[in-house]
Amino acid sequence: MKHLMSMAIATLPLIGFSAAPVSASEIFEKIKIEAGQTLYDRSCRRCHAVDSTDSSYGPPLENILYRAAGIYEGYDYSIAMEASGIVWTPGAIRAWMEDNDGFMPGTKMRHVGIEDPTVQDFILAYLGSISPQDNKQISE
Ligand code: HEC
Repeated sequence: MKHLMSMAIATLPLIGFSAAPVSASEIFEKIKIEAGQTLYDRSCRRCHAVDSTDSSYGPPLENILYRAAGIYEGYDYSIAMEASGIVWTPGAIRAWMEDNDGFMPGTKMRHVGIEDPTVQDFILAYLGSISPQDNKQISE
């Protein structure tokens, strides 16, 4: 019991203050998003702002999950991206992170090469958290 209490106290700063009970899977999801944000800041952020308030070399990635490729308004994509016909499902984003120029020859995004599925998982969790719009419903 004492052990459980100290575990609960140790996780409090991670989950913030909340009156509602929080399940273990909710805590795990939050940890994944936070880890993903750190990895995103390290590997993607220098080229990708989350939204258009901050101009960057690559297109903003808000609402990227299940968005059609190459449609962010006002961004100058490569012809390869515009003509790809891809929808950014989790599987497509994994393949893209792993070997983007193999996945889409002619893209202007320089090679990233994230092969570790756990790292991909975390980044995907973060990308999901900045994708509040339900593009899945729109693209189906
Ligand atoms: C060196 C700069 C750079 C880095 C680092 C980078 N990107 Fe990109 N990214 C780009 C550019 C440029 C494009 C546009 C490619 C094109 O038009 O062919 C792009 C396109 C994309 C797209 C398609 C967007 C759309 O609107 O269709 C996704 C998804 C993406 N990047 C994800 C990532 C992720 C995730 C990371 C980190 C793991 C990352 N990128 C790292 C420059 C970068």
